[in-house]
Amino acid sequence: MSLLKLLIFHPILMLSAFIGTADGYYQYILSECVYSTSDYSDMVFLSSISFNKVVEAQFNSTVGEFVGYTKDGVRQAERWNKDPSMLQQWRAQKDTYCHHNAEIYQSAIADKKVPPEVKLSSVTQASGRHPAMLMCSAYNFYPHQIQVSWMRDGKVVKSDVTSTEEMPNGDWYYQIHSHLEYTPKSGEKISCAVDHAGLTKPIIIDWDPSLPESERNKIAIGASGLVLGIIIAAAGLIYYKKKSTGRILVPS
Ligand SMILES: *[C@@H]1O[C@H](CO)[C@@H](O)[C@H](O)[C@H]1NC(C)=O
Repeated sequence: MSLLKLLIFHPILMLSAFIGTADGYYQYILSECVYSTSDYSDMVFLSSISFNKVVEAQFNSTVGEFVGYTKDGVRQAERWNKDPSMLQQWRAQKDTYCHHNAEIYQSAIADKKVPPEVKLSSVTQASGRHPAMLMCSAYNFYPHQIQVSWMRDGKVVKSDVTSTEEMPNGDWYYQIHSHLEYTPKSGEKISCAVDHAGLTKPIIIDWDPSLPESERNKIAIGASGLVLGIIIAAAGLIYYKKKSTGRILVPS
């Protein structure tokens, strides 16, 4: 079922939004559901009736009736507040309209969790041959709350760690990069641990101090070239030998 199908329309607004628009005058109603708690206990339904950009009257569910702000608005509010069945409908909006739609938005957007993809790499610095810095990157996660930590032989490292903020990609997802200053020691195990609401258990990646893949590739390409060169040279040598021996065999 699509989100739109589930949204219930504001029955009173659907009627009233079309009343009184003639000769270039413009009446409109802005309805708001204001809340900041996940159980909606602080939900307030607000409906502001405006005429030509001026708010004339407002229904605030906490107040429970209309309040007029202009001469016309006060008159209208008095009239609406005298109609108990209409007031009853407006008061019900907090539950039927706000609550209902907030639940849909909550499950459609706010409850979404996408776990990060984690990458551990070395940042080679201009000076020195050894990687002086490790970088643990988490990509494409939602929501932005995340925990990136470093471990040395299973113990959490707090010093020599710097981290970026959770950076928005602009597509609802976030990324973060944490750096560890690192002096290689033999037999030591460095790991990066990432925990996020989208994960059932933290992702832990151990640093592999052997050559990084790009270095390995360079060596592999060089070695293949060398082997190919030797094969071609050997083939050439054999061919040359065969030819010269053949020549000797021909009687002169
Ligand atoms: C709604 O009414 C309550 C109670 O008077 C008030 O505290 C609140 O600020 C009002 N909300 C708005 C947006 O006017």
